[in-house]
Amino acid sequence: MDALQTDYIKVDPRHSDWKVIDRCASIIKNGGLVAFPTETVYGLGANALDGQACRGIFAAKGRPADNPLIVHIASVEDMERVAGSLPDRAYKCMDRFWPGPLTIVVPKNSNIPDTVSAGLSTVAVRMPDHPVALALIRVSGVPIAAPSANTSGRPSPTSAEHVREDLGGKINAILDAGPCRVGVESTVLDLTSPNPVILRPGGISREQLEDLLGQPVAFDRGLTDQNVTPRSPGVKYKHYAPKGEVILLEGSDNRIIARIKQELSTAREKKLKVAILCSRELAEQVKYLEADNLIILGSRQKPETVAAAIYGALRECDRTGSQLILTEGFARNGIGAAIMNRLEKAAGYRLIKL
Ligand code: TXA
Ligand code: MG
Repeated sequence: MDALQTDYIKVDPRHSDWKVIDRCASIIKNGGLVAFPTETVYGLGANALDGQACRGIFAAKGRPADNPLIVHIASVEDMERVAGSLPDRAYKCMDRFWPGPLTIVVPKNSNIPDTVSAGLSTVAVRMPDHPVALALIRVSGVPIAAPSANTSGRPSPTSAEHVREDLGGKINAILDAGPCRVGVESTVLDLTSPNPVILRPGGISREQLEDLLGQPVAFDRGLTDQNVTPRSPGVKYKHYAPKGEVILLEGSDNRIIARIKQELSTAREKKLKVAILCSRELAEQVKYLEADNLIILGSRQKPETVAAAIYGALRECDRTGSQLILTEGFARNGIGAAIMNRLEKAAGYRLIKL
């Protein structure tokens, strides 16, 4: 692809600069690509009603064509432009969790090009909780299809700098509104059958969904069972992976520490550069071990801080050339399901239970 001039534009999320939003909305309306902030991760946006524009997203990311895009809208009313008939459960979810990190999969209507839905009869839709994203969608006047704004296979971008690393020279503009609050992607919830299924854990937890819907909400079996094909096409791809080998350690602190010592001594013999990714609590106990890099993700007491730090930490491992990355496992309830899903994928499911 020919190199493009990528405009890098800083915006204040609290006071929309309408000149900037207008300029980026024109790019979207004219079939171009704009990376923009959301509360989860940065998205790479194009007009969701324009198949040609959306093909540009796949080209810029190197994304496989069978992986459908999430369509972003700015109000519940916009649903009519993208979806067919909706079950009551969909309205309940939209009322409670929008704007916010929940994507719902519903029947699509004929406005949605096959490129966006990857030929499926359904469409994934969400309303992001970020003033810049909402302003861009409103001023563009069209729904915006947007996957995470990373090169396919790399960790998702939680800052505009991450976007520039991957997509600078390949897209028209990057809107920089600082770091993303949630830091992991939205929960993808399939509402096309009577029993709702989480296709990808994310910013809204299973517990929150069960509480609202008053019925069990299952995780797609393909998320954890490697013999079952995931129902969400994107989930099957190797993803979120840094270049070094990642080992995920689950168990008591004492056992994790013993294993880290063992791994560090083997790594030293092989002269490997090692990073440890862990909670503040564990860091207190392993800091004297002298790994090449000790990255504190956040506190176990505040798992949302861990979620917000994961992707930046994985990118830092690449930047500093870590060859072995030892990662602590976290509790799997609430946002922990999303944290552990991302860490398991980063580890290529190399999970050691101690
Ligand atoms: O938080 C997010 O969701 C971010 C921000 C930018 O909104 N977007 C994002 O998009 O994570 P992406 O493309 O990286 O992930 C979309 C996921 C993929 O796993 C894809 O396969 C799945 O949603 N998906 C999209 N449409 C679907 C559909 N019709 N049925 C099942 N899964 C679908
Ligand atoms: Mg993605």
